[in-house]
Amino acid sequence: MPDQRDVYVHLLPQLAPAGFLAGGLAVVIDVLRATTTIVHALAAGCTCVRPCSEVEEARALADAMRAGKVLLGGERGGIQIDGFDLGNSPRQFNAKACKGTTLVLTTTNGVVAILRAREADRALLAAFVNYSAVCEQIRQDARPIHILCAGTEGQPTLEDTLLAGALVDFLSEELDVRLNDSARLAWDCFENHGRVLKGALELSRGGQILASLGMHEDVHAAAEVDRFNLVPELKRDPLRVEVGAVGIVKSRWLK
Ligand code: MLT
Repeated sequence: MPDQRDVYVHLLPQLAPAGFLAGGLAVVIDVLRATTTIVHALAAGCTCVRPCSEVEEARALADAMRAGKVLLGGERGGIQIDGFDLGNSPRQFNAKACKGTTLVLTTTNGVVAILRAREADRALLAAFVNYSAVCEQIRQDARPIHILCAGTEGQPTLEDTLLAGALVDFLSEELDVRLNDSARLAWDCFENHGRVLKGALELSRGGQILASLGMHEDVHAAAEVDRFNLVPELKRDPLRVEVGAVGIVKSRWLK
């Protein structure tokens, strides 16, 4: 059928073969916490986010930018990096900290997934906090969809798979789709856990690690479906994430 949309879920960035995203629309997910935090940062007034895979690369980039106009953020092991302005907690990214600044961000898994998505024609960032806004964007785009989950240290995660499944659920309702097996697995995960989202995030390994670090409120913040109506989008030259689209037409979350 010519009008069928191909929808692929990749439960980890490394499960997408090299070259496979080319020509497609990538949707990057790292619910705990990178994509949730980036949505918060842009909503709070950061003009863009510069993703860096290495700590020293992030420091050097921030050093080269105008003082007062740059924020250096990120984590290793979930904890704010020494000498950085902020960690990777969405709750740190408020208007006072963010307005008019560039966020230089390095995180363990989320940034790796964002950088992997460069290969796609277009790349968006998704979290539960901007779920319906992302749904609207992916519905309108005709390219094959690659939902790219960050996972944690080479393991798929419940929270990323759950959001991937929520997007598959939306697409399957709206369009004639052709799914890969991981998309079906993610959809099943959503069917099982979507109605108890906060509990599922608490149950996840990432949620438990954050709770053990005293950051359980970040887990709750990540479960605030549709708190924001913006969709971060990857732009090039220089590589950065900016607000790509704003505006939810209607809420697409379970009622
Ligand atoms: C990551 O990119 O690995 C994460 O977002 C980790 C975290 O800060 O919880």
